[in-house]
Amino acid sequence: MSELPKLPKVYAAISMPLEGMNRLRKLCQVTVHEGNQDPTRQEFLDGARGMDALIVCPKTMTVDKELLDTAGSQLKVIVTHSVGLDHIDIDLCKERGVKVGHTPDVLTTATAEQGVALLMATARRIQECIRAVKDGVWGTVWDNAMWLAGKEIAGSVIGIVGLGRIGLAIAKRLAAFDVSKILYTGRNLRPESADPIGAEFVTFDQLLEQSDFVVVACSVNDSNKGLFDEAAFKKMKNTAILVNISRGVVVDQDALYNALKSGEIGAAGLDVTTPEPLPTSSPLLTLPNCLVTPHIATCTVTTRNAMCELIVDNILAGLEGRSLKTPAFL
Ligand code: NDP
Ligand code: DGY
Repeated sequence: MSELPKLPKVYAAISMPLEGMNRLRKLCQVTVHEGNQDPTRQEFLDGARGMDALIVCPKTMTVDKELLDTAGSQLKVIVTHSVGLDHIDIDLCKERGVKVGHTPDVLTTATAEQGVALLMATARRIQECIRAVKDGVWGTVWDNAMWLAGKEIAGSVIGIVGLGRIGLAIAKRLAAFDVSKILYTGRNLRPESADPIGAEFVTFDQLLEQSDFVVVACSVNDSNKGLFDEAAFKKMKNTAILVNISRGVVVDQDALYNALKSGEIGAAGLDVTTPEPLPTSSPLLTLPNCLVTPHIATCTVTTRNAMCELIVDNILAGLEGRSLKTPAFL
């Protein structure tokens, strides 16, 4: 009797929508991390051991020498449930001949919408409004015409740090609010993105000084870890609002706390923090002018399904020795 062909082994460190996973299960032996917590480092290493392909995500799943050594030399492909690649040692994967895929584009709309949602929610102090209603404060301060007064987007200066796919998608949406100006900064001028929306390239300092809303949408690299430090907050307007949908490491959180508490800046809306999850004891959570969401920007049904399909396409391509649909490098 001839031996049945062995199915390639895939470890998914994150559980994904059933439809996409079922497509993968028809062709691979899939092990999905169980439980409602992210895998611990040890569980992640154990899960990766002996696998042909890995599905990872940025939260706690660092792909480094230890992980690649533990997985073994049969590992062909790693696909991350993210566009961001800051948790993956790309050079080492290249060196080892392990293909890496990610999920650009399909998540741009959802992430941009969350960026705009955070900006509007902080501008109009939605967190404080909800609290005031729940606490029965509503009605007791009616004669104060400035009670919970917010900030208008119309007429404001928007500063985008990182005019990539998501930064541009946010800028385009905000342009519809009749803003007075859109500024952007980065390592390079991006006229192909900036010119159609009339966005102006400025230095980081100029952006801080002039913007009413500063939206952080850059990818993370050595040039921007801790970019928003005490000195940066001092350069911002006292009424400015910071929105971060990039990565927590771009912001020095102690400096942010001080800036928000002292009125150096007006408010912050963060989808990303350091660490994640942000401990409930974090001083940031005591501030009425700081709104934090749990790294949820891509989480719409449409986008999560699209990410899953793209991940499966990439995994199958990598296992079959074909080019990935959305490779992190060529
Ligand atoms: P892109 O590669 O299209 O854009 C990244 C942008 O970052 C580029 O325009 C780049 O410009 C800019 N950048 C890099 N370094 C700096 C710097 N020092 N200062 C200013 N800008 C900089 O990526 P996406 O737009 O698709 O995604 C951006 C990031 O958003 C991801 O890498 C990820 O970290 C984060 N993200 C977060 C999500 C969430 O759930 N909160 C969801 C999806 C993405 P230049 O090269 O000119 O510097
Ligand atoms: C990304 O795509 O980089 C997000 O952070 C994933 O959740």
